[in-house]
Amino acid sequence: MIGPRHGPGKPAGPIAPRPRDPAPGTSDPAPRPPDPGPRPPDPASRPPDPGLRPPDPAPGHPTLRLPTAEDTRALGERLAGVLRAGDLVVLNGPLGAGKTALTQGIGAGLGVSGRVVSPTFVIARAHSGGRLPLVHVDAYRLGSLAEVDDLDLDVEVADSVTVVEWGAGLVERLAPAWLEVRIERADDGEERAATLIGHGGDWPRRLAGLA
Ligand SMILES: Nc1ncnc2c1ncn2[C@@H]1O[C@H](COP(=O)(O)OP(=O)(O)OP(=O)(O)O)[C@@H](O)[C@H]1O
Ligand SMILES: [Mg+2]
Repeated sequence: MIGPRHGPGKPAGPIAPRPRDPAPGTSDPAPRPPDPGPRPPDPASRPPDPGLRPPDPAPGHPTLRLPTAEDTRALGERLAGVLRAGDLVVLNGPLGAGKTALTQGIGAGLGVSGRVVSPTFVIARAHSGGRLPLVHVDAYRLGSLAEVDDLDLDVEVADSVTVVEWGAGLVERLAPAWLEVRIERADDGEERAATLIGHGGDWPRRLAGLA
């Protein structure tokens, strides 16, 4: 299921950039492998673009104001305090909402090594060295979250915290319980709002101390 070990933060493997990504070389001088072409279309498994519509209202769930990017990272750090091995955290929100910023906070809270950056050119990165390993997944290109298990990561998902950006529509059929974080952003300004929605398990109790 899991391949040979890599160093902290090592990507699972290079893949083609998303259409929304800058062209390889324009933002990162590192050489990129040739573009193997677009993924085969799989409309049934693609989540809808969350950027095209506001998140559904989630009455009864805590919504936190995040005036700055630092506040978003601080929320991630606090969130890390309640995370356990095998947890799945799904981050939904439009482009630039702050999903990676929140993941950076989670990584800092867990104490993992390796810089947490957007998994733009890979499906997933694993970061070790902390209280728990962090598996950071960009589900934008995944047909199924089960594909993460086939990646050449250096950690077991069951032993790690897995944070998935763009995971809506994927996790529901994989995990019995997960934490969803919906991040909203205004058209302008820095402020974001994050709504924490626990699905299954003991998430309501675990979230109680965070709101
Ligand atoms: N309150 C805030 N919370 C999070 N990020 C903020 C906030 N205010 C400004 N920002 C900025 O918005 C950007 C968010 O980028 P980030 O990569 O985290 O978004 P993302 O949701 O992961 O994007 P993508 O959809 O491309 O994966 C960063 O440049 C960050 O500094
Ligand atoms: Mg991101």
